[in-house]
Amino acid sequence: MKIISVINQKGGVGKTTTVINLASALSQQSKKILVIDLDPQGNATTGLGLSNVEQSDQTIYGILNGIVSISEVIKKTKFKNLDLITSNVDLSGLEVETAGDNDRAFILKTKLTPYLNDSGASYDYILIDCPPSLSLLTVMALVSSNSLLVPLQTEFFALEGLTQLMKTIERIKVNLNPKLEIQGILLTMYDRRNKLSSQVEEEARNYFKDKVYQTVIPRNVRLSEAPSHGVPVLIYDKNCPGSKSYYNFTDEFINQENKIGSAA
Ligand SMILES: Nc1ncnc2c1ncn2[C@@H]1O[C@H](COP(=O)(O)OP(=O)(O)O)[C@@H](O)[C@H]1O
Ligand SMILES: [Mg+2]
Repeated sequence: MKIISVINQKGGVGKTTTVINLASALSQQSKKILVIDLDPQGNATTGLGLSNVEQSDQTIYGILNGIVSISEVIKKTKFKNLDLITSNVDLSGLEVETAGDNDRAFILKTKLTPYLNDSGASYDYILIDCPPSLSLLTVMALVSSNSLLVPLQTEFFALEGLTQLMKTIERIKVNLNPKLEIQGILLTMYDRRNKLSSQVEEEARNYFKDKVYQTVIPRNVRLSEAPSHGVPVLIYDKNCPGSKSYYNFTDEFINQENKIGSAA
């Protein structure tokens, strides 16, 4: 079992879309998936067809502030092999409420580890959808994860933000989670007609080499329509370019995992 955070402190780069569709494609291949929505906006929650206006003791917030245990809060989605811990706006209060707690970066990890060890839960992957910031919630995700998946929108300031993110990751590795790895960088919202897209791609590949997935996610309106129907695009329109790209990405991801597995 592996815990992967989908992270980028910029908003609107395709984190939630990547979580939903990677989770969906993996679950279609009989992998057991738990998505944790760690963004107070709750977009992964609604995008997977659940409500983000529920009582907060039924959400990740209830877990993090100690009201409920993880097993009480995991919900089934209407998709096979795909479970979800939902989020709602109350989660945004956690940072202030835990201000006096010196170990607060570890709150998520200290809930997750015993649950995974003791409950008999048999997830293959836990995917954490991070908020668009480098705040406490994101640090909790970094501390709890085995690896990181970074969606990179192919636009002008994308790489600038990435430098800052890489510095944060290095700091976390030194101080809080030495085994943290970068799973890969996924180029998103790629526009073939726009020269900038190919420039950002070239720079990203030059700098991050084979950490950048070969698969590129195109800009595709079907991807932005699917969440309002509460389903992954793979269900909404499985033949559109966005779906094809997320299926290709998932194949590449699984190949990568198989290689890591056989090397270990
Ligand atoms: N490849 C894409 N093409 C078109 N729209 C996209 C694509 N990826 C994401 N979107 C849309 O862009 C918006 C931001 O994406 P989202 O995944 O929510 O980003 P983040 O979670 O990083 O804030 C959403 O409305 C989403 O539906
Ligand atoms: Mg999001």
